[in-house]
This record gives sequence, C-alpha cells and structure tokens, in this order.
Amino acid sequence: MRVANLGYVILEMQDPAGWAKFAKNVLGFGVAKSLGEKGAKYLRMDNAPFRYMIRKGEADRFVAGGYQMASKKAYIDQIKAFEKAKIDVCHGDAKACKHRAVKAFASVTDPSGNVVEIFHGRAKGEPFKPGHGIKGFKTGKMGLGHMVLPAPNNEPTIKFYLKVMGFGVSDDLRLPAFAEGLPDQRVYFMHADNPRHHTLGLYNFPNPTGVVHLMAEVNTIDEVGDCMERVKKAGLHIFASLGRHANDEMVSFYFFAPGGIGIEVGYDGKQIKDWSKFKPTKSKIGDLWGHEYDFPVVE
Ligand SMILES: [Fe+2]
Repeated sequence: MRVANLGYVILEMQDPAGWAKFAKNVLGFGVAKSLGEKGAKYLRMDNAPFRYMIRKGEADRFVAGGYQMASKKAYIDQIKAFEKAKIDVCHGDAKACKHRAVKAFASVTDPSGNVVEIFHGRAKGEPFKPGHGIKGFKTGKMGLGHMVLPAPNNEPTIKFYLKVMGFGVSDDLRLPAFAEGLPDQRVYFMHADNPRHHTLGLYNFPNPTGVVHLMAEVNTIDEVGDCMERVKKAGLHIFASLGRHANDEMVSFYFFAPGGIGIEVGYDGKQIKDWSKFKPTKSKIGDLWGHEYDFPVVE
C-alpha cells in the first residue's frame, strides 16, 4: 500500500489567529512557528512540524488533506498511477514544499472535487506536549487522525481511492435517508497502511465547508470528557453527544469548530494489526450507543 497515513490537513479561514486560539484553548493543539506561508497559522499535535495549516483566505473551509506516502518510491509510483488514470497532477514548487516541510508534494482532485495532496520526505519537528494535561494525541505512524469528506459523485470517488490510490476497504455503512425523496446515506470507510480502522470516510452528500469532519484521538475517556467541557465553555455547538461507533468502536463526540468545521474528539479507536486477515464489513448501524445528533436548524 502506497499511502502511509494522513499527514496534514489545510484549512482556509478568514481569521487564522482565531482558529489557532480555539485549537490551543479547546483541543490542546500547539501553535508552531511559521513555515513561511504568508498569513497562515501552523498547528501541532505531536512532533511533526505541523498537522493543521490554517491559511488566511476569504472563506472558512477545508482546502486539502495531505497523505504521507510510504517512501519516495511509493510517491513516484503514485504519480505514475495518477498519470495512467489520466488525472491531472499539479507538482508543488520548492517554495510550497518548504511551506509544508516536505521534500516533494503533488496535488490532484478526486471525482467529487476534493483536493488530495501526496507527499514524501517530511522534516522532523521538535518534541511537543499537548495542552490541558493531555498525555498525547494518537498520531505517529497512524497519522493525525481521520477525515470524512463529501463525495456526492459517490461511486467514481470510491473507485478513485481504491483503484488509483490503493486504499483498502474498512466498512460500507448505509443509513436511512434524512427525509423522503432523498437517497439513503452512505459512508464508505477506507484504511491506509497503518493500524487505524479508517483514515478516510466518504459521505454521499455535499458539505458547504468541504469536510464532514476531522477526527483527533486521545488516550483516555477523561481526556475526551475534559475536552467536551472546554467545548461547552467556549460556547461551541455539540452536534453529536458522546457515543461509541459500531465500526471503529471509537468513543467520541462531535462539535462545530469556528468556521463550521466538524470535529470529532475520541478515544479507544480500533486498530487492526494485520490487514491481510481483516474482512471488510457492511454496517447498517453507525453507533453501538449514544451519538445523538443535534444539527442546528437553518431558517
Ligand atoms: Fe469519525
């Protein structure tokens, strides 16, 4: 498998400093020194140079996810796979590589319009300890966490990640439609070459922010609970109460970060040690308990 993990994400915010402040005060992330992207804030979760890049922009939205490739060879092979599939590849220039602390990166667009970056040769950062007494985020070789992206052009998008990028199938979750006349909801979960149950999920509806949610994992239920208290104190909207997912068994809650970005904070996510022995599942329930949804009504 060529994709090792989700190495970084890029968001665009009208107020990157405000987002950085939220990430520090609520999530326990750290603010890194700038890698040169003008106006951007770089956020840390571990000893990687950064995990979130918050660019200054006109909108509040998700820009791209950056996948760490297993090796330089895996990176080159992935570029060839894009070319073979007749997908336009945009190669990052030296300056943009410096802004990401990587030797090389390239970007493509998936069939639902999500921007995908791949990279290799990431510089090592300084040691980092999260705030609020959090022992550490579950990252390292498993990457920064997982993300669920909108994939309204569902089948071609799934095919792109499986066939062109070599992701493995974890779970195909089908849930009843929100309302009559709408198709059933589907979240297609995929894994990269690391034990995390899923690194990427694809949801079959569009999302105005460009991302359904980003997940950060901690080590204990108390760290999850403490974060929930900070979210409440900050006046941010919790859109799913504490619950345990059926497929990755993660105990988590969800809330809207500034800019309307969905964030999941959880612990106890399932890890698969040997993917060759794993049988992909087809789920009909999302949760074992909890995760009561509460979406604000837009009038
Ligand atoms: Fe999730």
